[in-house]
Amino acid sequence: MCGIVGYVGKRNAEEVIIDGLSKLEYRGYDSAGIAISQGKDTIAYAKKKGRLSMLEDYLKEEPILGHVGIGHTRWATHGEPSDSNSHPHLNEKETIAVVHNGIIENYMEIKEMLISEGYVFKSETDTEVIVHLIDKFYKGNLIEAVYSAIKKLRGAYALGVIAANHPNELVAVRKESPLIVGLGEDEFFIASDVPAILKYTRNVYYLENGEVVHIIDNTLTIYDEKKNKVNKELKVIDWDIEAASKGGYDHFMLKEIYDQPQAIKETLLRRLDKNRIICLDDIKMTKEQLEDITKVYIVACGTAYNAGLIGKYAIEKLAKVPVEVDIASEFRYSDPFMDEKTLLIVVSQSGETADTLAAMKLAKSRGARVLAITNVVGSSVSREAQDVFYTWAGPEIAVASTKAYTAQLVAFYMIALDFALKRSTITEDRYSELINQIEGLSSLVTQILEKKEDILNIVKDIKDTTSAFYLGRGVDYMTAQEAALKLKEISYIYTEAFAAGELKHGTIALVEEGTPIFCVVTQDDLVEKMISNIKEVKARGAFVIAIAKEGNTEIAKVADDTIYIPKTDNLLMPILSVVPTQLVAYYASLERGNDVDKPRNLAKSVTVE
Ligand code: AGP
Repeated sequence: MCGIVGYVGKRNAEEVIIDGLSKLEYRGYDSAGIAISQGKDTIAYAKKKGRLSMLEDYLKEEPILGHVGIGHTRWATHGEPSDSNSHPHLNEKETIAVVHNGIIENYMEIKEMLISEGYVFKSETDTEVIVHLIDKFYKGNLIEAVYSAIKKLRGAYALGVIAANHPNELVAVRKESPLIVGLGEDEFFIASDVPAILKYTRNVYYLENGEVVHIIDNTLTIYDEKKNKVNKELKVIDWDIEAASKGGYDHFMLKEIYDQPQAIKETLLRRLDKNRIICLDDIKMTKEQLEDITKVYIVACGTAYNAGLIGKYAIEKLAKVPVEVDIASEFRYSDPFMDEKTLLIVVSQSGETADTLAAMKLAKSRGARVLAITNVVGSSVSREAQDVFYTWAGPEIAVASTKAYTAQLVAFYMIALDFALKRSTITEDRYSELINQIEGLSSLVTQILEKKEDILNIVKDIKDTTSAFYLGRGVDYMTAQEAALKLKEISYIYTEAFAAGELKHGTIALVEEGTPIFCVVTQDDLVEKMISNIKEVKARGAFVIAIAKEGNTEIAKVADDTIYIPKTDNLLMPILSVVPTQLVAYYASLERGNDVDKPRNLAKSVTVE
């Protein structure tokens, strides 16, 4: 998820574009760039690794004048953050420039074709194939060349394209990735999102899939993928800029909870080949090396550790190899036995957590192989590891991790299935059945998000409590641990997660009249057990809120409140059952007047021991 901005008008394009990009940094902030068409033979451009401020500082020394331009702030997916991997990407003659948000699925085959035709690539990005394709088809008509190029592309792309000696022209394209067009007084804007242009205009067109925008000589025309003109309804935006940077949501956490359907879809993207077999390009471990593995450790911190608990369950259940999960700050000092037959899987959203990095270094020093699941391309964790699985959840700004967690679960399910197939521990039917179910998760999460009102009402009942419990059995107990962490870290309600069967061995003593107890009950073979545990705590006066599969009517007879969620395979239920618990934490924090996105005493990435 990156941010792109484009401008055609009378203002200083550099100023407008940089200002717009600064409002889109929540979409990506590891590198940035700008290109301006000055009516000369070549395009003037600048691109810098790092936050937008690096580019701004450079442009203070080397300003680029002109009234037509495009800009980009990046969230790397292909190719680490660097000056050469930053956008815009230009053709060899530097007469065409492209900025791109999205992922080109078939870029490798296009790249090979272009290289065989003599094209030279300067970056590791998927995006660079686009500008060379436009160059290949360019015969003086920019929009025609763009149309020919996009015919070759598969995947998601929002594009901004300008060309030298096309001084008053900009072409933009939308396919999957979001793109809007802004209309001002004799000026036009394109952007990935509203915040980028709100300072200049509130009149926007929301582009549909396949639509192509042509701005030339002060006129704007929108075409469909068949080059038919499209008449669109102009929308007037009434948000303020602050709200807009959160996509219209009140907080980044709520926005990121609602980003999950897309994050799950993106993390799955391009990892199924045409035979629907999982192919994990960034995992270089061979089948033989995998068969040699005798022990797997999963090591991480906080929410990432909680994802590791589900990872252990999935890998053991599907790939039949023993897995141990540990928190990094303990693991690094526990002198764990590791050798070249050991696989260490580390999980880190930021990729910069100090304890997790130290655990990796320890493992490598003992000959173990390291696989990293991370959300940040080019992060320290991704550089230290031999194998990487990138979650493509996009930037996660709120301290409380939500979409990165569900994307990490998708990562674990895919790794477990990949290992199981390579170790021949799963039947083809079970393999494809689980892949079908994983593909269906995105829309099931959307269904749950429609229940936010029910959850808000439940939270109103418990918001003044000083303590609460989450109970579960099997994978539900693991979900309960993540749920408890979420509620604790942003509502400041003292919350414990417990294996439901363990409660009667002591902790049930803490249950009294009105104690809120959330029970996660999604495992068919454990429902009866959970019902008796619910009766146990109800008998001590607890207020029980159950999270259960649709159709499980028995639960509603024993719980005070029940949040029903759609069904999927038992193994995959954690991706669904965690969503209501994220909303419970969000609304509890809100109802208690806390700073939801920046809770006290916490940091988004803990880079110190
Ligand atoms: C989760 O909401 C917290 N922000 C925290 O527990 C976090 O999961 C932990 O610090 C690990 O961070 P990482 O995934 O970036 O390594």
